[in-house]
Amino acid sequence: MSVVSLLHQKGGTGKSTLAIAAAISYLGAGEKVVLIDADPQGTSGDWGNRFGSAFGLEVVSHIRPNFPALVESLRQDWERIVIDGPPSLSPVTESILAASDRVIVPVRPSLPDLWSIPWFATVVKKLRGSGHPLRPLVVFNMHRGEALEPLNAEISAWNIPAWHESIPADEAFPRLFEGVPLPQRLAEMIGRLIADEP
Ligand SMILES: Nc1ncnc2c1ncn2[C@@H]1O[C@H](COP(=O)(O)OP(=O)(O)OP(=O)(O)O)[C@@H](O)[C@H]1O
Ligand SMILES: [Mg+2]
Repeated sequence: MSVVSLLHQKGGTGKSTLAIAAAISYLGAGEKVVLIDADPQGTSGDWGNRFGSAFGLEVVSHIRPNFPALVESLRQDWERIVIDGPPSLSPVTESILAASDRVIVPVRPSLPDLWSIPWFATVVKKLRGSGHPLRPLVVFNMHRGEALEPLNAEISAWNIPAWHESIPADEAFPRLFEGVPLPQRLAEMIGRLIADEP
């Protein structure tokens, strides 16, 4: 069983969108997957109420900062847990990181979106220092052709890897919230994103 979380301090960077797309992708690969909505805004929970059964995806809400215990209690029943995080640096966020094997950090291609990376890097370093093999990956989302070099330089200074592809701005992503599956090209891209080797 493995846990993949989508986390970033900033709002609106694509955590919920990519968490839903990732969970659908795991499902398509035949895994038993549950999506946990850890954001009090309830975006994925609301999505689950509307479209979860149509996609065959179980979505549960959980916002208390005890994710390691929650994951332990789900270990028997699921092969994969995807966690959609809140836009905050909080005890909930730290608890999600402590319970995760991988954390995907969606950022828009702009410097202000990267200004919380030092906080992530510090928590990741602390967890890894205590023997937790957490693997972080920053992912540029809503890419409209902006130059990524200065942004990649900022990220690599903090020793956090960035995904070699970037996710384009594409109207197919908002349509997930209308219950429309991603087109094959984007679904395959999400499949590459969540493939176990970054
Ligand atoms: N690659 C993309 N192209 C176009 N629109 C996108 C893309 N990724 C996300 N969006 C849209 O951007 C908006 C914000 O995305 P989303 O709700 O996933 O962000 P979030 O990080 O979960 O936000 P919050 O911090 O408020 O929870 C949504 O309307 C979503 O459909
Ligand atoms: Mg969200």
